[in-house]
Amino acid sequence: MSNTLPPSLKPGWIGGHFFKFRRRPTEFLTELASLGDITYMRMHRHPSYFLNHPDLIRDLLVTSHSKFHKGLALQRAKPLLGEGLLTNEGESHLRQRRMIQPAFHRKRIAEYAKSMSFYADRMASSWTGGEEVEIDKEMTRLTLEIVGKTLFNAEVDKDAKDVGEAMTELMNLFNFLLVPFSDVLQKLPIPPAKRCRDAQKNLDRVIYSIINERRKSGNDEGDLLSMLLLAQDEDDGGSMDDKQVRDEALTLFIAGHETTANALIFTWYLLSEHPDKETKLNEELEQVLGGRVPGFEDVPKLKYTEAVIAESMRLYPPAWAMGRLAIEKHRFGEYDIPENALVLISPFTIQRDERFWNKPDEFIPERWAEKSIKQAGQEFIFIPFSRGVRSCIGESFAWMELVLVVATIAQKWKLRMVPEQKFGLSPVMTLRPKYGMRMQTRRR
Ligand code: HEM
Repeated sequence: MSNTLPPSLKPGWIGGHFFKFRRRPTEFLTELASLGDITYMRMHRHPSYFLNHPDLIRDLLVTSHSKFHKGLALQRAKPLLGEGLLTNEGESHLRQRRMIQPAFHRKRIAEYAKSMSFYADRMASSWTGGEEVEIDKEMTRLTLEIVGKTLFNAEVDKDAKDVGEAMTELMNLFNFLLVPFSDVLQKLPIPPAKRCRDAQKNLDRVIYSIINERRKSGNDEGDLLSMLLLAQDEDDGGSMDDKQVRDEALTLFIAGHETTANALIFTWYLLSEHPDKETKLNEELEQVLGGRVPGFEDVPKLKYTEAVIAESMRLYPPAWAMGRLAIEKHRFGEYDIPENALVLISPFTIQRDERFWNKPDEFIPERWAEKSIKQAGQEFIFIPFSRGVRSCIGESFAWMELVLVVATIAQKWKLRMVPEQKFGLSPVMTLRPKYGMRMQTRRR
């Protein structure tokens, strides 16, 4: 048994490393990673360890996954997301995952492709040329429309005003819950806590009324909600009750919306900064689509488009860090990690590690012709969707959405950052651009 602690940075007077981490998280982790593959942080009341080597990441996510639960941030979201996939644990998580998996099978997501291209094309057609758009807000609106349609078969902007409002409330609630000590705050008689409770009630009213209507009609609307209602466990033949359907639907919404928007925002930023790569992208789009709105069958042919997106998620992974809580002690390398320790990994640092990547900070989509996305995933050096039993269930859905949206919009528009636009990172729950992203539309 080793009693020594791994190397660490100098802690602050108050709060150990917590405030340093909160202020500049990606820089903090990058600095920490330079000290070794296993490093130590003092945060909250838990001893915290940071792993930055593919073998250690594989051990955490795959080999020894059953010794760990989700980290503190996601546990704080439990009052909202209940026992949905993101926050569920153990046997119950595995059963839910088995039941939900068919909703993401190839045949089913082929149907969603139509909505993805439709909404992207509608947005691209609404711009007039030369105007300035807040691309961060536009991409968030677009992914919201897509998730509304594919999840609830709802037109978020029109007939389902209730759903649109409920979804906005849901995002606000989720962000509130991620604030440290939100569990205490929620119980206090203060306005934000009351708004939070009211919003949750309203949200539940909307969701349960949709579930009720669907149950009554018995229709398969071709959306994810129908799949959740129809899902049956192959082992015990059981299905989900209304509460579980609600938890899963909200989880899919939360997990699938902002992450995808962020990947798109950073992709437009990188294309704006690298016009030579944009020209190559457009050559591919011209050759494969020739001005046509892309569909499901086009996705495998759009290899360079996929490489541009992979490179964007390598440099700016939307889920930039993932936390786990040790439910029993474990040994990583030469260090013993006690029960109740926090363990952190970061796609941001491992995907920019010069031991595994040539010119790691440069945007080079061509590198994906040498090493496939799958291979880099198997080597645990490219993990934007994580790996193992807790990996992203929406991964193929997200790839398809990203490729279709980029192909549809890039065919019509060049997006250029306006001169006064600053660039910085804001790593909260997901990685976002710190100062928004104002861009000018230029017709191709
Ligand atoms: C670019 C877009 C996306 C990225 C980068 C992403 C990334 C991730 C990551 C890293 C995890 C693991 C989190 C952890 O272990 O703490 C995850 C889990 C999850 N994601 Fe995604 N995701 C994306 C899009 C989506 C979409 C579109 C959906 C659904 C429509 C979705 C649904 C989920 C769910 C339900 C989980 C929990 C899975 C489980 O624990 O069994 N995600 N995602």
